[in-house]
Amino acid sequence: MSAFPRTRLRRLRRTGALRDLVRETTLAPSDLVLPLFVEEGLEGRTPIGSMPGVDRHGLDSVVREAGEAHALGIPAVILFGIPAAKDADGTGAWDDEGAVQLAVRAITAAHPELLVLTDVCLCEYTDHGHCGRLRDDGSVDNDATLELLGRTAVSHARAGAAAVAPSDMMDGRVGAIREALDDEGFADTPIIAYSAKFASAFYGPFREAAGSTPAFGDRRSYQMDPANGDEALREVLLDVGEGADIVMVKPAVPYLDVLWRVKQATRLPVAAYHVGGEYVMIKAAAATGHLDERTAVLETLTAIRRAGADIVITYHAKDAAQWLQ
Ligand code: PBG
Ligand code: ZN
Repeated sequence: MSAFPRTRLRRLRRTGALRDLVRETTLAPSDLVLPLFVEEGLEGRTPIGSMPGVDRHGLDSVVREAGEAHALGIPAVILFGIPAAKDADGTGAWDDEGAVQLAVRAITAAHPELLVLTDVCLCEYTDHGHCGRLRDDGSVDNDATLELLGRTAVSHARAGAAAVAPSDMMDGRVGAIREALDDEGFADTPIIAYSAKFASAFYGPFREAAGSTPAFGDRRSYQMDPANGDEALREVLLDVGEGADIVMVKPAVPYLDVLWRVKQATRLPVAAYHVGGEYVMIKAAAATGHLDERTAVLETLTAIRRAGADIVITYHAKDAAQWLQ
């Protein structure tokens, strides 16, 4: 018996061609979704201080940015709106002439092949920054919020959204939105449910970008406790039962175990949202020279795919698509 190993896994790692041949997980521009911020009344674009390399866009600018993403092979963008005015119920969310609705129409007209997805929530539109209607005691009224979410989703569908993505975490919202869409003739509009959305520190940069930081308290009474994996599966299965077409786990990297479990349990199309705070961590470390940005981003996105994501929503989408050409 030889003292040396017979099984040598290094044999298949020796050259790039061999590594390519046996690679288990792929990452392609066609897996990516680019989030875009569209601000009512803005001319051009303005940088977002909390997210280096990400801008808020006016209407013309968002059409251009979406077109650039599409040209890089990215099949979809997801829109977030920043309204000119806010109120207690977030009525701007279902304004047919709101920033998101106008952007959906303009992007779809200019790039009919590009999928324009919309985030459905009220927090960018409420003056208190919570994701639903408040009761007098300041708590979020679940059932009263459902109707408002339904109106918002219908308004997005009317503008031509390729799919709507509720991110509010109210109980029963997928069913309420499905019913509202069906009633208004949008039975073919898919729902991408932010099903396992955790109450996360990593949303900080986004909230600065979207101006959606809660004026008081936090979102822990509706978003999930980061400690819970079994409950994430319950959330996912409930949303599937209510008609979700695609389910999402958010954030991504701290929750790769959840992503894995969701994919294994459902075998449905699964999306993962690599959120603003995750993006900023890499950007900050790259800016100081502590990390090589390209390698870190591609490794991270590949890991999210390996854990079970079919779709990765990421602010790195354009850079990654370029590197993957
Ligand atoms: C709105 C919403 C948020 C994100 C997506 N939709 C913020 C939040 O829940 O506070 C987070 C996106 C990101 O952090 O990049 N509910
Ligand atoms: Zn919200």
